[in-house]
Amino acid sequence: MALKNIIIIFLFRTFIWSLLGVFTLSNGGDSDISCLKSIKESLKDPFNRFKSSWNFSEIGEGFYCRFNGVECWNSVESKVVSIQLYNKSLKGQFPQGIENCKFLEDLNLSFNKLSGAIPSDISTRLPYLTSLDLSRNNFSGEIPTDIANCTYLNSLKLDHNRLTGQIPQQLGQLTRIKNFTVANNFLSGPVPNFTVPNVTKESYVNNSGLCGGPLEPCKELGRKSDETSDETFKSGFIVGYAASSVSVVTIFVSYCVPWEQMKKRKRMTLKKNSKRKETHKIFTLKRWVTRMTSAELNKATDNFNSDNVVSQSLVSG
Ligand SMILES: *[C@@H]1O[C@H](CO)[C@@H](O)[C@H](O)[C@H]1NC(C)=O
Ligand SMILES: *[C@@H]1O[C@H](CO)[C@@H](O)[C@H](O)[C@H]1NC(C)=O
Ligand SMILES: *[C@@H]1O[C@H](CO)[C@@H](O)[C@H](O)[C@H]1NC(C)=O
Ligand SMILES: *[C@@H]1O[C@H](CO)[C@@H](O)[C@H](O)[C@H]1NC(C)=O
Ligand SMILES: *[C@@H]1O[C@H](CO)[C@@H](O)[C@H](O)[C@H]1NC(C)=O
Ligand SMILES: *[C@@H]1O[C@H](CO)[C@@H](O)[C@H](O)[C@H]1NC(C)=O
Ligand SMILES: *[C@@H]1O[C@H](CO)[C@@H](O)[C@H](O)[C@H]1NC(C)=O
Ligand SMILES: *[C@@H]1O[C@H](CO)[C@@H](O)[C@H](O)[C@H]1NC(C)=O
Ligand SMILES: *[C@@H]1O[C@H](CO)[C@@H](O)[C@H](O)[C@H]1NC(C)=O
Repeated sequence: MALKNIIIIFLFRTFIWSLLGVFTLSNGGDSDISCLKSIKESLKDPFNRFKSSWNFSEIGEGFYCRFNGVECWNSVESKVVSIQLYNKSLKGQFPQGIENCKFLEDLNLSFNKLSGAIPSDISTRLPYLTSLDLSRNNFSGEIPTDIANCTYLNSLKLDHNRLTGQIPQQLGQLTRIKNFTVANNFLSGPVPNFTVPNVTKESYVNNSGLCGGPLEPCKELGRKSDETSDETFKSGFIVGYAASSVSVVTIFVSYCVPWEQMKKRKRMTLKKNSKRKETHKIFTLKRWVTRMTSAELNKATDNFNSDNVVSQSLVSG
């Protein structure tokens, strides 16, 4: 496994070398130096965890390969391929000049206090990245869709930051991904459809509402809003129905069955069950109204003003 990886890495580097040829070979050193200089300038290093070892007055081919956290391809080819500046209490933004480290494959800036956005054109700046670890910082904004164009990425760690928005679906195109995490951010929406098997729930925990993939399935937005408007309609309908029923019954009770007539009927000792019927009607009405919450009643009163004044006085009377 390890041997296979080494061979793959070797072939990959050979490929890049053959692509870029001798021309960039002779310029590479200057480019790497300007890269490292700009990193030194742009990052605040309050506890002097790396800056003192980055001494650009030194001389000799590939002197910068001995800098703290810097690794070159090998001792002959002084190409910076790895920058490891994790856990150094660094502050500042993603170092822009890092694009001059043209052959950078492995960037680890984790466990610092870096802030601001991840560059939206990161794939043109660092096209050969195999590992990008920006975890445990204070990066904000959205995850750039362009990371999906860093096609060699094996490892992408963005956990414990302040990233917002959705995870670009295009990240699913990163077929080499083995380690991926965006846990502990403020991300929401559907997760990408990775073809690799080992992107699990753990990669997504502690966010603002991610769904899909190994997580709960996403509710389709269209349907959800339909449901809510459905609910609104239903409750509106119920309130309206209740209010109009109350008024209809009220009107019926107060006009069609006048109290005088009831008393008269009572006195006239008409059929017993007729009286029972009327009392039952009023009982039903009372029970009905007490079941309604006061909020519903208020609503109903607004909508059916005059009618409900009758019903309320009737009920309370
Ligand atoms: C940087 O390197 C030069 C040349 O080797 C040396 O004179 C100088 O003292 C070094 N500076 C620091 C801060 O180590
Ligand atoms: C970070 O560095 C400090 C010392 O500078 C060390 O105590 C701590 O364990 C390190 N943390 C990590 C996660 O490497
Ligand atoms: C970056 O450095 C941290 C701290 O040492 C380490 O835990 C992490 O595994 C590194 N990231 C990668 C991708 O190797
Ligand atoms: C992280 O950024 C937020 C604002 O975006 C700031 O309030 C907070 O203090 C920062 N945290 C650190 C550790 O720098
Ligand atoms: C990736 O690069 C191609 C070609 O440069 C570009 O057309 C595409 O928009 C890029 N994709 C993303 C997600 O940025
Ligand atoms: C993935 O993470 C595991 C554990 O942290 C580590 O052993 C492995 O080397 C990582 N793989 C890659 C490709 O970074
Ligand atoms: C993903 O799979 C690779 C190889 O199968 C393994 O090395 C790595 O540790 C796995 N990563 C996680 C987070 O499980
Ligand atoms: C996810 O990817 C797999 C394999 O490419 C595909 O079969 C499946 O339809 C995709 N699912 C979604 C929701 O895009
Ligand atoms: C999720 O957040 C909680 C509370 O902040 C924390 O205790 C837990 O360790 C986090 N989980 C992971 C996997 O980071």
